[in-house]
Amino acid sequence: MALPKCSSPSEEHEEGDDVRCTHHFWFLLPLAACFPEPPAEEEFLPRAEYPGQAFSSGDWSLELPLGLDPTAAYVPENNPMSLAKIELGRQLYFDTRLSLDDTVSCASCHLPLAGGTDNLPFSPGVGGTLGGRSAPTVLNRLFSRAQFWDGRAASLEEQAIGPIANPVEMNLPHDQAVARLQAIAGYRRLFAAAFDSEEVTILRVGQAIATYERTLLTGGARYDRYLAGDTTALSASEERGLGLFNGKARCNLCHRGANFTGEDYTNLGVGMNATTAPDLGRYQVTGRDEDRGAFKVPTLRNIAQTAPYMHDGSAATLRDVMLYYEQGGSANAHLHTDVQALDLDANERHDVINFMLALTGEIINAEPPSSRPE
Ligand code: HEC
Ligand code: HEC
Repeated sequence: MALPKCSSPSEEHEEGDDVRCTHHFWFLLPLAACFPEPPAEEEFLPRAEYPGQAFSSGDWSLELPLGLDPTAAYVPENNPMSLAKIELGRQLYFDTRLSLDDTVSCASCHLPLAGGTDNLPFSPGVGGTLGGRSAPTVLNRLFSRAQFWDGRAASLEEQAIGPIANPVEMNLPHDQAVARLQAIAGYRRLFAAAFDSEEVTILRVGQAIATYERTLLTGGARYDRYLAGDTTALSASEERGLGLFNGKARCNLCHRGANFTGEDYTNLGVGMNATTAPDLGRYQVTGRDEDRGAFKVPTLRNIAQTAPYMHDGSAATLRDVMLYYEQGGSANAHLHTDVQALDLDANERHDVINFMLALTGEIINAEPPSSRPE
């Protein structure tokens, strides 16, 4: 089982950097041992080690991990959450039978326990084919409406069924996916519990996966404890980094709010100097000239775990990311006006990096199921 790392590669640190790291192993408790029988519903409720504000939808409620903002949550009205839907979605999310040759699941490219990505620039789908963009995290999707680097899916529900049929991902046509699930008695029971009917439809598959994804949350990082009043939670360097992040380094112009993104699309020039046709990002969705080369601002929570960075995986480390911002991005016709060269010295750069490392929090509800429906 992949263990979340709670600090980034040692190259990010220099002698004298004062970086602390806390491992929380509570989630490694073997779940199977907890409920050999079909569990009482309460046992599926994820519990945050550092609970924050309450959130509820449908028959589901929890205390969000500390620092997350329930008013920023988005659950579509036609897909309220429920424990049964979460459990069905969890099974589907981890099930390789949703791929053509039973080799790839959502978790192959988005490992929840490892920060929600696969740490590759580009991810191999069925048969090893690679897509053209780097897998973003699936954590904290509860706070995000439009999905993908270019926002082309209007909701998680819409997003979740895309990879199943995508030839470079799971490569299983939707009608075949539905037929496969319908033939598995264990799934018929789970669909009946979640939707009051055994009927498998691709819409329901999307609704269940989306519902499960909304429970994959991370918060309760040292940064959150600091904001909550524990002034010892951040080191002096991290505290300086916080000040720079919100000040001289201008990061919070785009990475703002509890999830460190205003969900806007901006052009930093990443990949725009490509000699072949560059990926035009948001422009492919809107056709608006000003959206050429713009990509969705990603969350920075658990960023230490999700290298390499950017939509094309072009930045190997957080240091590379900083150097890119310090040079003012890459010049191109549509560079966002908030991207400007930064005058940071090496200590300040390290402070900002150290601050980002303090954004690693616990990840709740990320354990794979102990067995699959048969
Ligand atoms: C072969 C690797 C692969 C598989 C399998 C895969 N994904 Fe992805 N996922 C990606 C890549 C690459 C992107 C970015 C694509 C883009 O933006 O155009 C992505 C994007 C996403 C996003 C958008 C996140 C954001 O910040 O906008 C979500 C959510 C997601 N995937 C969930 C899933 C789910 C659910 C499944 C299973 C049904 C799945 N993925 C299967 C590689 C994969
Ligand atoms: C003008 C808006 C804007 C500003 C200002 C900004 N960012 Fe970003 N950030 C983005 C966008 C958009 C991306 C994704 C770009 C892409 O992949 O093409 C990104 C990507 C990143 C990533 C990679 C995330 C990932 O999952 O791959 C990190 C880390 C990051 N930014 C940190 C920072 C830091 C630190 C600062 C301040 C020095 C900063 N950002 C300033 C918009 C911004």
